[in-house]
Amino acid sequence: MTKIFAHRGSAGTHPENTMIAFWEAERAGADGIELDVQLSKDGQIVVIHDETIDRTTDGTGWVKDFTYRELQQFNAAYKFADQYDVCRIPLLEEVLAWIRSTPLLLNIELKNGFIAYETLEQKVIDMIQRYQLEERTVLSSFNHNSMVFCRHLAPNIETAILYMEPLYDPWKYVRAIGADGLHPYHRTVSEPFVRQARNHRVAVRPFTINKEPLMQKMFRYGVDAIFTDYPLKAKKVRQNK
Ligand code: G3P
Ligand code: CA
Repeated sequence: MTKIFAHRGSAGTHPENTMIAFWEAERAGADGIELDVQLSKDGQIVVIHDETIDRTTDGTGWVKDFTYRELQQFNAAYKFADQYDVCRIPLLEEVLAWIRSTPLLLNIELKNGFIAYETLEQKVIDMIQRYQLEERTVLSSFNHNSMVFCRHLAPNIETAILYMEPLYDPWKYVRAIGADGLHPYHRTVSEPFVRQARNHRVAVRPFTINKEPLMQKMFRYGVDAIFTDYPLKAKKVRQNK
C-alpha cells in the first residue's frame, strides 16, 4: 500500500515544520512525516525549509546567521496567529525524541543545495543514531553528492535523491550514487516509470501531491509513498480508491 508522508508536518493546515504540524500528522493517521533541516550559527540542527526565516516566521534574515537561542525569539506560527499561540522553530532533536514514541516513519530532507553546511550530514546521522531511528528514516536531498556522503557515513540508513526534471537512465544513476530511492517532482512520474522502478527495486516517492485526482493517480500507479500537505485528505482518498 502507498504510504502517506505529511509534508513539512501537515503544511496545508498547520504551520509548516513545527511540532504542532508533526503532532497533527500523527493525529491524521499519516504513515510518516517529512521535514527540512539546516544548521544554525552555533551548529544546531534546526527544522526549517527556507534558507531565510522571512517566509515562515515573523523575523527576517538567514538561518545560518542566528544561533539557536536567537532563532527562538521568532514565531513560526505567525501566519496562523488566530489559531495558535507562539510556536518556535524546532530542533531536529525535539522531533526525534517525540517520534520515537510514535510508529511514524521519517524523511529528513537536508537543505544543503544553496548553502554548503559542511557538517550537516554527520550531525544529522549522529542524531538519528542517538535516537536509534536508523530503520525508519530516509535521508533525502536535491544535493546528490550529499546523499553519496550519507551512504558512506551510514550505509544502514536509507537515502533518496530529490529532483525536478526527468533523469537520464534513473536506474543506473540511482545505483551509481548508491541511493535507495527516487523522490521526483510528480510530473515526471508515469505508470511505466513506477513499474520499471519496482523491477529495479528502487522506491518512488513523488512530491507534493495535494489535489484529490493526483492522489488517486499516484495510488493507482502504486508509488511507494506520496508527500502531501493534506494527510487527512490523502487517507480518505486512499481508503476509497
Ligand atoms: O521531499 C519532498 C519535498 O519536500 C521537496 O520539496 O521544496 O517542499 O522541500 P520542498
Ligand atoms: Ca522538503
